[in-house]
Amino acid sequence: MSKDFDAFVEDLQDKIFQETRAAYGDVAFQRWLKPLYLGTMDNPDGYGCVTGACGDTMQIFLKFENDKVKKISFHTDGCGSSAICGSFAAEMALGKTTDEIVEITGEKILKVLGSFPKEDQHCAFLAAGTLQEALNDYMIRQVKNG
Ligand code: FES
Repeated sequence: MSKDFDAFVEDLQDKIFQETRAAYGDVAFQRWLKPLYLGTMDNPDGYGCVTGACGDTMQIFLKFENDKVKKISFHTDGCGSSAICGSFAAEMALGKTTDEIVEITGEKILKVLGSFPKEDQHCAFLAAGTLQEALNDYMIRQVKNG
């Protein structure tokens, strides 16, 4: 590949990085580069799968130990923002009790993110809604298992 082409690609990547960092803020930019807790899980204790009005689907998997989230992962087929929000929802829920997870709302995720583009804010609500569905699933299983 020519040096010119390499330089062009590097410049373009730099530009995209700068624009993304400016739009999303530093914290979210880091998760955009490298979302944490991305993946699926076999035999979760709680599972949520929600499709948002935008048509994107998010899944959240929970494993509990001593009434706290021991392991969590999320998967999304949606936009970069949904990966950022899923990642933050997972970070916020890890190590938390069921009562604490109930408190994790779309507004709270947006607050932790700091600045987030208005048009992408619904992604935080999709992440929170999916987390709550996974929690619900866990609670129902608890009742069923007596
Ligand atoms: Fe659908 Fe972001 S646009 S989750």
